[in-house]
Order: sequence, then C-alpha cells, then structure tokens
Amino acid sequence: MKAMTCIEDLRETARRKVPRAFFDYADGAAYAEQTLRANSADLQEIKLRQRILVDVAARTTKTQVLGEPAALPLILAPVGLTGMQYGDGEIHACRAAQAAGIPYTLSTMSICSIEDVAANVDKPFWFQLYVMKDRGFIRELIERAIAAKCSALVLTVDLQVIGQRHQDIKNGMTVPPEWTLSKFVDFATKPAWVAGVLRGKRRTFGNLVGHLKGTDDITALGAWISTQFDTTLNWKDVEWIRSIWPGKLILKGILDVEDAEEAVKTGAHALVVSNHGGRQLDGAPSSIEVLPEIVDAVGSQMEIMFDGGIRSGQDVMRALALGAKSCMIGRAYIHGLGAFGGPGVAKAIDLIANELSVTMGLCGVNTIAEIDDHVLAI
Ligand code: FNR
Repeated sequence: MKAMTCIEDLRETARRKVPRAFFDYADGAAYAEQTLRANSADLQEIKLRQRILVDVAARTTKTQVLGEPAALPLILAPVGLTGMQYGDGEIHACRAAQAAGIPYTLSTMSICSIEDVAANVDKPFWFQLYVMKDRGFIRELIERAIAAKCSALVLTVDLQVIGQRHQDIKNGMTVPPEWTLSKFVDFATKPAWVAGVLRGKRRTFGNLVGHLKGTDDITALGAWISTQFDTTLNWKDVEWIRSIWPGKLILKGILDVEDAEEAVKTGAHALVVSNHGGRQLDGAPSSIEVLPEIVDAVGSQMEIMFDGGIRSGQDVMRALALGAKSCMIGRAYIHGLGAFGGPGVAKAIDLIANELSVTMGLCGVNTIAEIDDHVLAI
C-alpha cells in the first residue's frame, strides 16, 4: 500500500474496486451537494500558523475521548451498509479502529449485527441509534447494545425525514433496488468485491433480521425501514432514551446553537456538530462554520465532537483549533475499507494520525491539549 499517500488515493482505489452503486452511495450527498462541498471548502479556508525552532521532539497525539484514553482524537463514524463496501466491513473497521486505539461506531443500518461485531472484536464499541416508529423494537435494540457491552450510544437526531441523493436513484439504489443490465456488468467486473461480500456473514440489515415475519431479505427490510422514519421525533424522545440507556449518550447531528442549548438540558454527555456529511439538509452551513458558536455556547458543559469533511490530519487540527475535542470520520475510512478491507481502514487512520503529528510539529505544538486558536494564522 506504499502508493497510498493520502485519503484521496484510497478514494480513487475504492472507486475502481467497489461497484458503482455502492461507491456513489458512500461518496455522494443530498441534492446539489452544496453542503458536502462546503464541508471541505470551509475547512481548507482555515490557515494554520507555522512556528519554528520549538522543540517538538516529545509530541504526542494521545488524548481522551469521553473520558477514555485514545491514541488520537479520532472516531470512526456510523455508516449504514458498511458491509456492502467490503464483506464483513463492520467487523474489519471495528478491528482496525481498536488496533489503532480509537472508538468505532456501529450504525443501526449496518450489515453485520451488534452481536456479529461483539463476537469478533476484543473491546467495546459504540452503537448508533436511529429512533424508528416501532418503539418496542428500539427498546430491544438498546437492550441488545447493553447486552453487547457497547460503551456509548450515539443518538442520531438529524434524520427525521430523508434528504434525497440523486445518484442513488439513478443507480437504482432504491427500495426495491433496480437490477439493470449495467449493474450486472459492473458487478461482473468486480469479482473480488463480489466474492468478499458473498463470503461475508450477511447481505442484509443485520440488526433487523428476525424482526419481520417470513423474510430477512434486504429489499423487504429496506421497505420496512422506509415506513419507519418518525417525523414526530422530538426532545421528549431523547428523555425516553435517557431513561432506558444507562451509559454515555452522544447526540449526533447538531448544527444550531439553540439546539445545542437544548441538548445540554437532556443531560447527554457529548454532541457531534454534524450535517450528516452533507447527506441531509442541502444548503445547511458547513459543520466547521458553525463549530465555534456551538463551542462558545455549550463547550464548557458538554464534550463537543465534530464531523463533516475531515480528509486529513490538517483538517483534524483545524477542527480542534476551533474547539472540537475529537473528530469523526465517515467517507475517509469507508473509502479505505472499499479499497483494501481492514488494512485499508488501518491505512486511513494511520495517514490521518501521521498528518496530525507532522502538522502539530510544524505548528510548534506537543500535545492535543495545547491545540486552540493560537495554532491558526488569522
Ligand atoms: C453516513 N452517516 C450516517 N450517520 C449515522 O448516524 N448513521 C448512519 O447510518 C449513517 N450512514 C452513513 C452512510 C454513508 C455512506 C455516509 C457517507 C455517512 C453520516 C456519518 O456518520 C458522518 O456524519 C459523515 O460521514 C461525516 O462526514 P464525512 O467524514 O463523510 O465527510
């Protein structure tokens, strides 16, 4: 993997190896993708301050995430259908995260189930929850996460209605999926991917298996999911979740100061400033644009995490400089997974870790705790 020198290399490799419908599903975003582009563009606008002749020999990226030691301030974000980027993708990604000393978050919409992952990794992982209409099922999911010893619950709060991704419709990534000739031809040219997915434990929504009578196939479960998004979802539901989940709670998908202030009142331990990687409200601000005001408003009361557009260690530095305590990455590791499986995820984490360490050195910083807006050139 010597030629893989940046996340973009992993992305280009994944583009060749993963069938187009699944690559585009990961790579794309809602509508005109303005928010997707803003996430990266606004990060790149932020200039770092070069410092010289500072002894940076002892620098370390070690930190704490939700009170637990972490090798760097990075978390693998929940990503639906991860196991369709590479067979058993969730297990590979979780193992890579644990080997690198950072948290992994399993999506409700994963291919491998909570139990599949728990049985195949050494340490606890985080579970991400979508609250669906069937609250009995949601209670069961939380109980399963407790039984699997998940160490945090990430409650995603920005998906009460679904942003449209044009490319998914064009590629037939719909319920039911469209099986066009071009799709078959595309699959036929990616035999390694097909073999890997066929060897994998599942090819359906692992957490939902057994929930519908008579069928577990991905189309039937997908159809059920599409009736389950709950537009009545509100702050009272967060209270309900708090009453059944005894552990650490993270609210993911906050982009507004008033919502952040409301989030503090729930007693959640952390929030993730996030626009779902530009996959929901197109036209919303980039995550980095709103990060400073949210940190100002509630940063002393909750741990502030960040995601949206992180593709390098320099980007992590920028988010930390504006007050985030850690960053989630979505596409950056998903492309690594699509390109090379578990070693590709490890590579993505390693690239970002090394870039962060070099960036710290060139900004004259030795520890994560020292990073604040003094590392920015304004
Ligand atoms: C996501 N995201 C997401 N979030 C979540 O809470 N549950 C989920 O199931 C998913 N599924 C999902 C699928 C795909 C393909 C992507 C790219 C993203 C959002 C994800 O957790 C995270 O917020 C973004 O990916 C962050 O942006 P970047 O790092 O991809 O730019």
